[in-house]
Amino acid sequence: MNYRVPRTRKEIFETLIKGLQRLEYRGYDSAGVAIDGHNNEVKERHIQLVKKRGNVKALDEELYKQDSMDLKVEFETHFGIAHTRWATHGVPNAVNSHPQRSDKGNEFVVIHNGIITNYKDLRKFLESKGYEFESETDTETIAKLIKYVFDNRETEDITFSTLVERVIQQLEGAFALVFKSIQYPGEAVATRRGSPLLIGVRSKYKLSTEQIPILYRTRNFENVKNICKTRMKRLDSSTCLHAVGDKAVEFFFASDASAIIEHTNRVIFLEDDDIAAVADGKLSIHRVKRSASDDPSRAIQTLQMELQQIMKGNFSAFMQKEIFEQPESVFNTMRGRVNFETNTVLLGGLKDHLKEIRRCRRLIVIGCGTSYHAAVATRQVLEELTELPVMVELASDFLDRNTPVFRDDVCFFISQSGETADTLLALRYCKDRRALTVGVTNTVGSSISRETDCGVHINAGPEIGVASTKAYTSQFISLVMFGLMMSEDRISLQNRRREIICGLRSLPGLIKEVLSLDEKIHDLALELYTQRSLLVMGRGYNYATCLEGALKIKEITYMHSEGILAGELKHGPLALIDKQMPVIMVIMKDPCFAKCQNALQQVTARQGRPIILCCRDDTESSKFAYKTIELPHTVDCLQGILSVIPLQLLSFHLAVLRGYDVDFPRNLAKSVTVE
Ligand code: G6P
Repeated sequence: MNYRVPRTRKEIFETLIKGLQRLEYRGYDSAGVAIDGHNNEVKERHIQLVKKRGNVKALDEELYKQDSMDLKVEFETHFGIAHTRWATHGVPNAVNSHPQRSDKGNEFVVIHNGIITNYKDLRKFLESKGYEFESETDTETIAKLIKYVFDNRETEDITFSTLVERVIQQLEGAFALVFKSIQYPGEAVATRRGSPLLIGVRSKYKLSTEQIPILYRTRNFENVKNICKTRMKRLDSSTCLHAVGDKAVEFFFASDASAIIEHTNRVIFLEDDDIAAVADGKLSIHRVKRSASDDPSRAIQTLQMELQQIMKGNFSAFMQKEIFEQPESVFNTMRGRVNFETNTVLLGGLKDHLKEIRRCRRLIVIGCGTSYHAAVATRQVLEELTELPVMVELASDFLDRNTPVFRDDVCFFISQSGETADTLLALRYCKDRRALTVGVTNTVGSSISRETDCGVHINAGPEIGVASTKAYTSQFISLVMFGLMMSEDRISLQNRRREIICGLRSLPGLIKEVLSLDEKIHDLALELYTQRSLLVMGRGYNYATCLEGALKIKEITYMHSEGILAGELKHGPLALIDKQMPVIMVIMKDPCFAKCQNALQQVTARQGRPIILCCRDDTESSKFAYKTIELPHTVDCLQGILSVIPLQLLSFHLAVLRGYDVDFPRNLAKSVTVE
């Protein structure tokens, strides 16, 4: 979104398209854009909508096809919106993609992330009022609803933000919305509930404020049929953000900082039910209800993210870059927290709550996908170091079961994005039951990091590849660091703590050694890439490695892959073993070594040809191996950090050899903000 900075139509397109491209990693199946019309006389009274199934490049080509004549037209002020969609209601096609519109004249258009759960009722109501729907989406209801509210307004001078306020009071579910309208040329209104939304601010000039005070309204609107009269509180300069002295300022609305980081690193994170409006070059924020945080203002924050962090550099895919970044990302997770001289760990975000955590009756660690696997991977060491019962939960299942949670529970929410809907709902569920909540996220300002009582930022740097890699190893280390911090005064655990801290220190170097096996793993991929299935088996500390390795393989190679607990082998999976079925066995020098040898014997006795991931000095396992990948040895509870990397690399090479787009696997999204 640009404001009060003259821009040509071409620049506006480019800004919007570049923003979408930076968000492509989150998953999409169609894309669309709405900008003001190209005819100079009517340009602000006309909204041009261009939508296309497929990727952003296809939309870009379509835009130029439709608009080749008018790229030089200049706008004094302009507001454009663009969106990539990941289908939840209705198939991926141009009609279902966003922006959605109120009518054929595009009077109101809206883009939406999230799900509106009561859209069927709203649609029925609007259809009964004569509104005709063209798409199968929940979002179209919002576009029609704002038109309905506008058509039934009680005063002529109703503001755009008042309309939006009335609309969101009728919505149930999760949303981040941005509206544009020919009734309010050059204006923008955005709002959120449950889905992330931030505003980037760029100006060469001094800004009027660094803290925008929130404006509250006094009266509520009960339902859409009963639009009551409420006057808009007057805005004055002190309640708005603008550049001092009527100078140019630009505002960018986005669901993710990577879409705007090349324009500005100064951002405002909106809270649920905030309504942000830009009119006349000024940004104001208001809300009907007081916010959960009860903060009377929203601050402009400076992000540390740099553009280079979200570019691929010399790598062929973000995922590959992120795998190879792990020596640094793992180091950054520990930086300033682990003191290798004094053998102490300090997690600043938890220190004030440590006493309370030590008194709790159990720890519950909750996540989805890879984040859940990080919890599985560290469960044993957490039990050992905290001497507490540790429950590890998949967020969706935890909610389905209405799991009993008590005030003296401590609940951890592990999430790279900090926005995963299931995890966020589980967090709210635990908060309602008054448990202490702890976030472990990679995204500053994310919903989970803001809504938890305290937390740890894993500092892995932006992760773009849909298949999570470096976030996993950093989550792993963050949880181990928490265990170490909890056990600082346990005399009986001092030797063990020293051993683990010493192991942490050497991890970045050992990860580099594992990464040097890349070529060997590529050769293995050449042998395996035509297979339909791939089993990954292990136990103890490395069961999570198997789950995570199999998930990587599924996500990006579309091969069937299963992570199998070796202890369960004889209870079913053994039936799958024959000469043909490729099996990867993770056998490390840890307390499960002897039991893993048993599993190995059972596999070879059935003519299985195991590919073994083992430690360098393990001559016993390699005797029975069809192939081995030998890894450096570290402390048993940290070995999973090293053993997962060959599987990350293997899935990457398999996907490339099978001809798939590693960063954008079909049907998957990086951040799943719907239940
Ligand atoms: C999606 C992603 C996975 C990720 C999971 C949890 O399914 O594709 O890579 O592990 O969400 O995401 P979170 O951001 O909560 O860690």
